[in-house]
Amino acid sequence: MTTPSTETTAPRHAADEEPLLKVEGLVKHFPIGGGFLSKSTSAVQAVDGVDFEVRKGETFSIVGESGCGKSTTARLVTRLLEPTSGRVTFDGTDISHLSDAKMRPMRRDIQMIFQDPYSSLNPRHTVGKIVGAPFKLQGVDPEGGRRKAVQELLKTVGLNPEHYNRYPHEFSGGQRQRIGIARTLALKPKLIVADEPVSALDVSIQAQVVNLLEDLQEELDLTYVMIAHDLSVVRHVSDRVAVMYLGKIVEIGERDDLYDRPRHPYTVAMLSAVPVPDTKRRENRERIRLVGDVPSPINPPPACRFHTRCWKAQEICRTEEPPLLQITSGPAVTGPGHTVACHFPVEPGELAEKT
Ligand SMILES: Nc1ncnc2c1ncn2[C@@H]1O[C@H](COP(=O)(O)OP(=O)(O)O)[C@@H](O)[C@H]1O
Ligand code: SF4
Ligand SMILES: [Mg+2]
Repeated sequence: MTTPSTETTAPRHAADEEPLLKVEGLVKHFPIGGGFLSKSTSAVQAVDGVDFEVRKGETFSIVGESGCGKSTTARLVTRLLEPTSGRVTFDGTDISHLSDAKMRPMRRDIQMIFQDPYSSLNPRHTVGKIVGAPFKLQGVDPEGGRRKAVQELLKTVGLNPEHYNRYPHEFSGGQRQRIGIARTLALKPKLIVADEPVSALDVSIQAQVVNLLEDLQEELDLTYVMIAHDLSVVRHVSDRVAVMYLGKIVEIGERDDLYDRPRHPYTVAMLSAVPVPDTKRRENRERIRLVGDVPSPINPPPACRFHTRCWKAQEICRTEEPPLLQITSGPAVTGPGHTVACHFPVEPGELAEKT
């Protein structure tokens, strides 16, 4: 930060502030097939040209069906993976191709919560060892010692500090995810990337873990990238939401713009699968069932990748890729920061009228 004095007084999500995370033209292709004698020319185009910014203090969510490239994006921004091309800038530093040694000090600031609290915790290590591991890795000696610091962290995430010597199998799924969260907090990170943090948990406890993350954000001044496969999970915690389809972002907007005024047919289809508690609104919302499977990211459809499943597709959708832009005229007009990659964006009332 160039002006640390404004840090505490600036409003949350100040739009003019340097973003904490900036992703530009991000691409990750995983080459496939081909022994050393055959030239491997095909690749899984897991992430294929993604741009977004995350402001300090906000929760930016990335939502899309399984296989659309969410985890790959998460691993790229946390630099667990190196991008094929494009740039990731964290807090003013280009980290896209930093060496392990240069990445090491940055790792304190960027942490990741994994989807599966069963496989992400070493079953042979005690909770104390797991949560304290970042101190050891980074050679940090917190005031009062590591044990005390770990017990404080356990309290912070709502676990009993006396359970320091227990093993992961002695805890429920929700408690294990709390252990994983405590571990990410050890080094006081600035950014936490949470990759479907509640997908593996029982529905009845998902809200508790989401609420915990929300409370921690307030308390510890955290910025989140929150990943989910359906729009309902992240609705109340998100400031802004990006919808991904086959390695690309198809729509980004402020939370209310995206949920109340979706413009991309894919976003509309995803929302139509979300239960709407208000019966009045439910009546007005046609349920759209997407036909066909998600195409393979090895050989994605040309131009608009959604054209094979889109009920609005026309010839141009198969030949010209729609850029991700704000819509400035016509009935489907969008507000600032609400961008859509579609030749024929959904207009307000369009679907209700059809029924
Ligand atoms: N290491 C890898 N090697 C090859 N393909 C991969 C690898 N990691 C992910 N993929 C593929 O990239 C695509 C996107 O995967 P992923 O980012 O995990 O999607 P999501 O998290 O949205 O389900 C999938 O087709 C997946 O099979
Ligand atoms: S560009 Fe065409 S195919 Fe793609 S989402 Fe829009 S209408 Fe559908
Ligand atoms: Mg994933």
